[in-house]
Amino acid sequence: MKNLSIFVLVLILGLNVVNPCNGCPIILRGYVVHIKSDIINDNVTVRCQSKDDDLGYHVLHSPNLEYQWKFCETISGSTLFFCHFWWQNKEQIFDVFNISMAQWCFVDHLEGNTCNWEIKDDGFYFFEPHNYVWLKQYSWKQIPEGKLIF
Ligand SMILES: *[C@@H]1O[C@H](CO)[C@@H](O)[C@H](O)[C@H]1NC(C)=O
Ligand SMILES: *[C@@H]1O[C@H](CO)[C@@H](O)[C@H](O)[C@H]1NC(C)=O
Repeated sequence: MKNLSIFVLVLILGLNVVNPCNGCPIILRGYVVHIKSDIINDNVTVRCQSKDDDLGYHVLHSPNLEYQWKFCETISGSTLFFCHFWWQNKEQIFDVFNISMAQWCFVDHLEGNTCNWEIKDDGFYFFEPHNYVWLKQYSWKQIPEGKLIF
């Protein structure tokens, strides 16, 4: 019983003390999802969402080819963000962050662990920080004719 009270006390303290670097409670990790388009001559539209948040539509076009946002993990560790991407008559949709990927997010001491995605004309690459390589995870998919884009 005493141990439980101490645990609850530490939890409450930990949730109320904020890490000044990333704005997250000190017991929860902060993450940054960073998306960069390599398609410099054309627009790529991105819409990212979690269960509770819709980050809205963003158009990546030169010179604004990068998009990122920060968040704190939840106590249950169930945070998930997925994005829908459109480029010309192609699209793709996938998780840009989920708990099984968290370990692959680069440890950035200032803002939090950064998950790096790069959009290329042949698909979507994720930065694997242990071996320092970009690994292709998804290809673009043709939007079926007659399907409305948004
Ligand atoms: C790209 O997006 C910008 C800003 O939203 C817009 O002004 C421009 O017309 C778009 N270009 C193309 C080729 O769609
Ligand atoms: C998490 O996201 C990655 C990358 O998009 C994906 O490969 C994986 O299947 C997802 N995991 C789950 C449990 O959905």
